[in-house]
Amino acid sequence: MLTAIYPGSFDPVTNGHLDVIGRASRLADRLVVGVLLNSNKNPLFPIEERVEMTREAVKNYSNIEVTSFDGLLVEFAERESAQIIVRGIRAISDYEFELQMALMNRRLKPNLETVFLMASEQYSFVSSRIIKEVARLGGDIGGLVPPSVESHLRARFQRS
Ligand code: PNS
Repeated sequence: MLTAIYPGSFDPVTNGHLDVIGRASRLADRLVVGVLLNSNKNPLFPIEERVEMTREAVKNYSNIEVTSFDGLLVEFAERESAQIIVRGIRAISDYEFELQMALMNRRLKPNLETVFLMASEQYSFVSSRIIKEVARLGGDIGGLVPPSVESHLRARFQRS
């Protein structure tokens, strides 16, 4: 049985992430989406809310689990008995950091392979950071995040 993990901050999950998740779920028997607890990016949403939004977005897949993790990614992979780490690549600019992480993770756990999936070009400009900025400033993010994430963002940035 092939288990893959798809780690990230998911602050919040976007349709770009979901595109990668859909592709990965067809490649692995079991896909575990790992939401990083202590992201040094100072997340907008607490871990429970990030997990809840991601679970809601993948509820129609029978082979996907969503869970939080803390500490080293390779240790999380070990706990989940995963053989593969999945990461999405949007553009060349993603490559340098992804290569660094993949090589460090390989050094830490040589049998764990990182597999890169290309996100669909329609989401190549979408990132959680840019989504939060546009939502905060009242711009339209429809079609770029799942509907439940849109409501969470609206609630978060509602001006009184
Ligand atoms: O969505 P992100 O924020 O780009 O995901 C980054 C993530 C979660 C994959 C990365 O920060 C990570 O793996 N953190 C766990 C700690 C760790 O193992 N760091 C060393 C990896 S080289």
